[in-house]
Amino acid sequence: MGSYRIAVLPGDGIGPEIIGQALKALKSVEKKFGHQFKYTEGLIGGSGYDAKGHPLPQETLELCHASDAILFGAVGGPKWDSLPVHLRPEAGALLPLRKELGLYANIRPVQVFPALINASTLKPEVIEGLDIMVIRELTGGLYFGEKGRETLQEGGIRVYDTMEYKTYEIERIARLAFQMAQKRRKKLTSVDKANVLETSRHWREVVNAMAPEFPDVELDHMYIDNCSMQLVRYPRHFDVIVTENTFGDIISDQASQLSGSLGMLASASIGGKIGLYEPIHGSAPDIAGMNKANPIATILSAAMLLKYSFNLDAECEAIEKAVTGVLDMGFRTPDLMEDGKKLVNTDEMGDMVAEQILKG
Ligand code: IPM
Ligand code: MG
Repeated sequence: MGSYRIAVLPGDGIGPEIIGQALKALKSVEKKFGHQFKYTEGLIGGSGYDAKGHPLPQETLELCHASDAILFGAVGGPKWDSLPVHLRPEAGALLPLRKELGLYANIRPVQVFPALINASTLKPEVIEGLDIMVIRELTGGLYFGEKGRETLQEGGIRVYDTMEYKTYEIERIARLAFQMAQKRRKKLTSVDKANVLETSRHWREVVNAMAPEFPDVELDHMYIDNCSMQLVRYPRHFDVIVTENTFGDIISDQASQLSGSLGMLASASIGGKIGLYEPIHGSAPDIAGMNKANPIATILSAAMLLKYSFNLDAECEAIEKAVTGVLDMGFRTPDLMEDGKKLVNTDEMGDMVAEQILKG
């Protein structure tokens, strides 16, 4: 048994509410399986800026380095949108944290819970049984390439963001994706824009060169525009998708809708010594403090934390099973509400999942 120190970074907006529910689930796991997790809270994002003058305060960074895993809520909000870029919650905290911790792989599983088959805007027959793993490169590409703006003599400005990859950055994410595919249905789709972008052409070369090491994995390549279309046309085509940072950002939001709500999708960012686990949705300032956000994505992120950082597979499954159970019983937060279901708030959903873990 390793040490189980969890840095808890609730952040802004709905962050604290949803993190509260994930903590309830983790506490049930402790009780049921006889573990002891040590939680330490840190400030991040706009709340870090308000309290300490920086969205990623030094003590938060130290806390992360001294932990075994990080449970992250969400950052950002209109209050901090007009700050200089380096002090904004996203560019000043989340992205540097990913980079600093070497979290080059972002894993976003997309599944359809049978109870939610009608919650998606897509037809049930299109999404039934769907199980996709989006693997997004997280510390390179457009997000981290050189960017800037310069004034032009003739008037106006020149602005630029650079998409840039080194071979090893593609190799390590591709390897992880092949390995993930090996453990699943053995199908890997590498998504790029090789008909236009040089980075994509090299991405494809690297992925192809690695393919012979994984003869049991069926590899195909798809352009990002086609992939976006195929995701809504015939999503069951996909098993594991691996792609560049920006492409992955976009298609994971799109793929989340297959599962009914952005509020259902968890993620794990791994590759360094310490993993970071967060829902894929943002801080939803419009509903912050109203006790109506869906906490399931965050609860499922805590489940991923147990699996990927602590190797506690049974504990992870216990949380997933509890979520399925509560949904099967018909309980829904407003984002998933349908006729004939029982409406619950954030807190109640958290309580029910926590209780279900203990019963399960
Ligand atoms: C995500 C988010 C972030 C990203 C934002 C908040 C910077 O959209 O995790 O997908 O673009 O990576
Ligand atoms: Mg995103």
